[in-house]
Amino acid sequence: MKTPRPAAPVRVRGVRSGDLGDVAAIDAEITRLPKPAYWAQIHRRYGSGRAQQRFFLVAEAGGRIEGFVIGEVRDWEFGSPRCGWVFAISVRPKARLAGVGSRLLEAICGRFRRLGVTKVRTMLARENQLILSFFRSQGMMAAPFIPLEIELE
Ligand SMILES: CC(C)(COP(=O)(O)OP(=O)(O)OC[C@H]1O[C@@H](n2cnc3c(N)ncnc32)[C@H](O)[C@@H]1OP(=O)(O)O)[C@@H](O)C(=O)NCCC(=O)NCCS
Repeated sequence: MKTPRPAAPVRVRGVRSGDLGDVAAIDAEITRLPKPAYWAQIHRRYGSGRAQQRFFLVAEAGGRIEGFVIGEVRDWEFGSPRCGWVFAISVRPKARLAGVGSRLLEAICGRFRRLGVTKVRTMLARENQLILSFFRSQGMMAAPFIPLEIELE
């Protein structure tokens, strides 16, 4: 079945400081954990427009922010040649399944491509079936890396 389109046309563009309240509200609605200081910091690092390899994009429809994506191009991290990393993508629950997430991913991949990137990576929690289904639908597959972690005393 084809993905239904939202009523208002969706425009994907770079974040503006006036969008931060909406972005933080979408995140808080999903994670139930408001983090205003974090969002201000992420905006400074990724949304200033000065850092050419960092992207913070929003999807706007009918004057409202419906979702966002954040990522960057990184060189030689984990021994890997330059690739694009998507480290956050979220769509307002009431705006889902209308193609907004796909538009956001497509837009950031377009930015990556213009910087010569041919590989895009992300990481997700094993139990997050929703984000797994989404990324799989976009053609992403398991990568040849293993995440490791340790609890520090
Ligand atoms: C994942 C997410 C971004 C998808 O956004 P969206 O706008 O609903 O995505 P799209 O409408 O573009 O969906 C594209 C495809 O993803 C898959 N998909 C999306 N939601 C799905 C769901 N609930 N169940 C199964 N597959 C799903 C489908 O294959 C869908 O294509 P289809 O509609 O033709 O079947 C959104 O659900 C979200 O914000 N989830 C929570 C965010 C989150 O957990 N982020 C983790 C931290 S980064």
